[in-house]
Amino acid sequence: MTRHLKVDAPDNESRVDQMAQGVLGMPINRIEGHHKVTGSATYAADAGAEGMAYGVLVQAAIPAGRVAEIGDVPGVLAVIHDPRMLRRAAQGMATEGPPAGPQQIDFMGQAVALVVAETLEGAQAAAHALRVRYEAYQVPVDPDAVDPELPEDKQSSSGDLDAAMRKAAFTVDNVWHTPSHAAAAMEPHAAVAQWAGDCVTIRAGLQMLGSSREQIADALGIDEGQVRLLAPYVGGGFGSKLGINAESVAAAIASKQLGRPVKVVMSRPQVFDLAHRRSETTQRVRLSCDTNGVLSGIGHEALVSNLPEAEFSEPVTQATPFTYQAAHRQIVHKVARIHRSCAGSVRAPGEAVGVTVFECALDELADAAGIDPVELRLRNIPETEPGTGRPFSSHKLAEALRDGAQRFGWADRLTPRARIEGEWYVGMGVAAAVRVNSLIESRAKVTLTPQGRATVETDMTDIGTGTYTILGQIAAETLGLDIGYVDVRLGDTDFPRASGSGGSFGAASSGTSVYLACVEIRDQIAARMGCAEADLTLQDSTARCGNIVRRLGDIVTSPLAGNGHLEPGKTEDSVRQATWGSHWAEVAVNRWTGETRVRRMLGVFACGRVLNHKTARSQCLGGMTFGIGMALTEAMEHDPRDGHIVTRDLAEYHIPCHADVPPMEVHFLTERDAYVGPLQAKGLGELGICGAGAAVLNAIHNACGVRVRSLPATPDKII
Ligand code: MOS
Repeated sequence: MTRHLKVDAPDNESRVDQMAQGVLGMPINRIEGHHKVTGSATYAADAGAEGMAYGVLVQAAIPAGRVAEIGDVPGVLAVIHDPRMLRRAAQGMATEGPPAGPQQIDFMGQAVALVVAETLEGAQAAAHALRVRYEAYQVPVDPDAVDPELPEDKQSSSGDLDAAMRKAAFTVDNVWHTPSHAAAAMEPHAAVAQWAGDCVTIRAGLQMLGSSREQIADALGIDEGQVRLLAPYVGGGFGSKLGINAESVAAAIASKQLGRPVKVVMSRPQVFDLAHRRSETTQRVRLSCDTNGVLSGIGHEALVSNLPEAEFSEPVTQATPFTYQAAHRQIVHKVARIHRSCAGSVRAPGEAVGVTVFECALDELADAAGIDPVELRLRNIPETEPGTGRPFSSHKLAEALRDGAQRFGWADRLTPRARIEGEWYVGMGVAAAVRVNSLIESRAKVTLTPQGRATVETDMTDIGTGTYTILGQIAAETLGLDIGYVDVRLGDTDFPRASGSGGSFGAASSGTSVYLACVEIRDQIAARMGCAEADLTLQDSTARCGNIVRRLGDIVTSPLAGNGHLEPGKTEDSVRQATWGSHWAEVAVNRWTGETRVRRMLGVFACGRVLNHKTARSQCLGGMTFGIGMALTEAMEHDPRDGHIVTRDLAEYHIPCHADVPPMEVHFLTERDAYVGPLQAKGLGELGICGAGAAVLNAIHNACGVRVRSLPATPDKII
């Protein structure tokens, strides 16, 4: 039996709060943690198979054109250059058919062939030796050198911003630049493919199995039913594994041709080239306010880039329309069609860079108006969504700002260059955190055995976020079991199709489907107890209904199964739903070298119900760390001649290392959001990054008086 829920109305009286097990929300350790730390968790590249051959991808050495000829190389099993391999799926959730014509190259580093050999070393040597002849085209690679597209559905304006700017007491009109960013997941993209008859099983690092399965079937020209994907462990994705990539399609084609399993693992530089990047952005922000700091005008104009036919474009201004209000507004989105590597969803696409830049601009306005930056924000928070008048499903920005100011000791903040400690200027910065929230259709199956164990099955993934644990906690809470009695099985397309992991929608979406499946089982237990499900209390493997108390094992004499099916419904459009927070940073800037050291950070967040306080906190710590990277070190540099990525390994592309990450504090505000259904939980994975970098950049200004508008704020831009 399936319990189906379409979220058409708010669920204000969540049953979850009446459940008695007391495990949901608790900061328990990851239930699969020991597999990871003992090495028994099999990530895609760890998988072995009888008779396995090794494939190495060969990459295009020109930015655009076609492959004219591929040479021979001795001692290999196969050199594969099937056009299906070039299918460019690295665009978030887009699905495209295979290109029809000859092998077309759209960017430097694109996969053009796969060399397969008996050993990895043999394949690597052959891949280096392989000669490819190209027919090259001249194409633009610089976003500033082309006329950008202006997609109409991404423009909005009201009032007269120019006039508002002219009349205002204080204004800001500046341009910011953020470079391309890499997802930089720890696990490189890898796939092991093996056929049995007409069916292929691919073990790969993927965030969303359901849509990836469609994409693979589409790329190979076979039916979905012929594809099984396995991704029980995924070592981070941050968007780069939302869709399929060259390695899984190549492994499948090679395996079919050779009649044996084939493994393809990308090298780290290949991950940089082939997994999509976050687009660089150029953002002009215009703000105007009166003498009280009340905004009259908001302008946010973004230029991003992508390949000519790519669907995705970094939604930089996504949160701008509803975060602050102003009568005169102009929001513009432009896309430059160029031949740098494919751009796609990376770590909070949109807000990560959009909120960060906007919050820097607000800091400049506060400065110009002589108003405290926290106070300026508080004066401009709307009651309802500007433009549409829709209510907010919940709104915690003001509380996050006030609470954070208190906790962080904001009152001690001085003016630039007023706080000097030895060779360091010290300053504090603040920024708002905001991220849109959504649900995605999700299914799960739960089985309760006579031995009192529950099994959760769904093709949901755990990309390091803690999915195994929170789904286990939801089942344990709802069925009244110790968490040790719950087995969670994920990452297999043979299980019911879930939302997958992406866009911060995974926990609430897949979690609700598990909850619904458990309610289905509770119904069956209640029927056996002779009471209504609403009167049933399940706790410590015991069922209670009024005066009747029975051990679960006495009631469940044969396995009970329940299926859950969640669908987003009307609540999506009836309200504006988002997650909220505030970021705080204290930095020291070296007076002589311009080096910035982050000394401490605080994040205050509201994301509805917190499902596990430990994994939730870890998500926020990760996001805030990405904020440090965005502010201070991360930049994917493109060669201006051909667009190729110069900083294509972790020695050149600087994500913060341990010594760069100071003590960080995370605080969650108590919140329930009824518009997401019975769990009342929203997404959290990406909130921690949205605006975090702005707190660091604003702190740099408060320390030394320098505004850096071209990220990252390396010492040369400060000194
Ligand atoms: Mo995310 S960038 O949707 O994994």
